[in-house]
Amino acid sequence: MRCWFGIVVALQVALAATIANAQSIAGYDEVHQPVYGRFGMVAVQNRVPAEIGARVLEDGGSAVDAAVAIGFAVAVTLPRAGNIGGGGFMLIYDAATDEAISVDYREMAPLTATRDMFLDESGNVDPNLSRSSHKASAVPGTVAGLYLAHQRFGKLPWRRLVEPAIELARNGIVVTHDYATTMARNQPRNCRNEATCGYFYKPGKVPYEMGERLVQADLANTLQLIADQGPDAFYRGAIAQKIVAEMQAGGGLIDMASLAAYKPVWREPLRGNYRGYDLVVMPPSSSGGVHVLQALNILEHYPIAAMGSGSADEAHVLIEVMRLIYADRSEHLGDPDFYPVPVGWLSSEKYAAELAATIDLRKARPSTEVKPGTPPAAESEDTTHYSVIDADGNVVSNTYTLNTSYGSGISVRGAGFLLNNEMEDFVSKPGVANVFGLLGGEANAIEANKRPLSSMTPVIVFRDGKPWFATGSPGGARIISTVLQMLVNVMDHGMGIAEASAVPRLHHQWYPDEVLVESGYGPDTIRMLEGRGHTVKTTGSINTSLQTVAYQDGKFLGASDPRRPDSAAVAPVRTHVAGD
Ligand code: DON
Repeated sequence: MRCWFGIVVALQVALAATIANAQSIAGYDEVHQPVYGRFGMVAVQNRVPAEIGARVLEDGGSAVDAAVAIGFAVAVTLPRAGNIGGGGFMLIYDAATDEAISVDYREMAPLTATRDMFLDESGNVDPNLSRSSHKASAVPGTVAGLYLAHQRFGKLPWRRLVEPAIELARNGIVVTHDYATTMARNQPRNCRNEATCGYFYKPGKVPYEMGERLVQADLANTLQLIADQGPDAFYRGAIAQKIVAEMQAGGGLIDMASLAAYKPVWREPLRGNYRGYDLVVMPPSSSGGVHVLQALNILEHYPIAAMGSGSADEAHVLIEVMRLIYADRSEHLGDPDFYPVPVGWLSSEKYAAELAATIDLRKARPSTEVKPGTPPAAESEDTTHYSVIDADGNVVSNTYTLNTSYGSGISVRGAGFLLNNEMEDFVSKPGVANVFGLLGGEANAIEANKRPLSSMTPVIVFRDGKPWFATGSPGGARIISTVLQMLVNVMDHGMGIAEASAVPRLHHQWYPDEVLVESGYGPDTIRMLEGRGHTVKTTGSINTSLQTVAYQDGKFLGASDPRRPDSAAVAPVRTHVAGD
């Protein structure tokens, strides 16, 4: 008896030691695990394009090559956001020169666009016009933007990078659960347009079901032209003519002159530092970068790590910071080529200190009491993100979009692709919120050839001077707050990228004056927030989706947000044949 007891105790001690050992393996103590790789990593909202990106890296392509191939592939597999009819932002880190640079390939307003173009006779905003009409589309930037990045940083031929997308369009994609569900939900809107209905639905306007194959023949031909002729086909040639014919038929504004005037722009990224880590972010015409830097500067005044992840104290500070940055966004942000955005002031430590002094740790400030700041006189549902890091340490963080799900819902007849409704991101009328509830004024008023203000927030974070992780997300106004929480979870709370992508998030955008809180936040925290005067609305997912890659401890890591099905991080492999 005694002897048995001794053996059992000994076994228990040994078992406990084994468990302790297992837990001490770096990173394995977290609930959510990333994907690990040795030769690079891609993270995309769809698995098939992620695999295409990994194959590009295996073939010796650079991170930018993979990003180009993924961009075209997502245009086939995720037509609600992936696109050639939209635009976006690509943030690039080039390891050879140790430099970061960005491509602003945001759409531009057509040459005949005017400030009041979405107002009816009584001066009221007509949201149907700004969201679902031919006039809702700005000149797309994706094809020109991907091409510009490839010209400077590509190693593989352009054609090789467009080809996988052509194959997908020509041979068909397998309809996923996510695809089938959103197509069914958007059927009434999409089938108002004959071309969209014909391209994306079965005869009789019937949505495809999960597991069925969808062929996109016109899109395959369009992509073939882009593979053969580059952006000229899109901005001057056969595709341009189809876009203009579509516009003329539907009363849209994009003409040949507007297409020819489109230019993607190389922009110097903004840089910041948070608790010793360096950040590189997108400058305007995205608002995301400048407001993430502004938020982090304010957060540095608080012991976020000690407050604890998910605590009421942390949540309260985050909400108050979000309230402040979204107020400033409404007043000061717009296309820098048209409006003097006070980037230096907004992202300065001095202004952050002034704002921190206005936060009361015990109670919420009503948004009615929070106004955008005044710069010193002297100073002038659906998007998608993917991240790539290659074996040489080059990084791409790319967010692009058609704006809302399926853009305007209008497809270019004969060309097989959907058009954006990005004109909606301008301010149609001061004081009237846009589809994301965002407010704005003069800085973001409609003007010919101007870029609508964006919230897209691709980020690259550096540790000891080397890229550590790259991330970004879809989600309209919620992108900025989502990326901010990802950064805090990794840099303050020391979470791994998978854990940091998965834990519940919250969102506040000044107006409406309410906090959206994802399920998973503890009821005690919510009660404490209500006690401090916050109006809390709980929800399932706040519908953002982080796609993150990292390099850490000699390994590549990838994490795709669990909030959307079918997303994937994929690592390239190297094949060694025995005997070689
Ligand atoms: O650029 C922007 O801020 C918006 N057009 C993004 C739209 C978006 O993220 C929709 N996604 N869920």
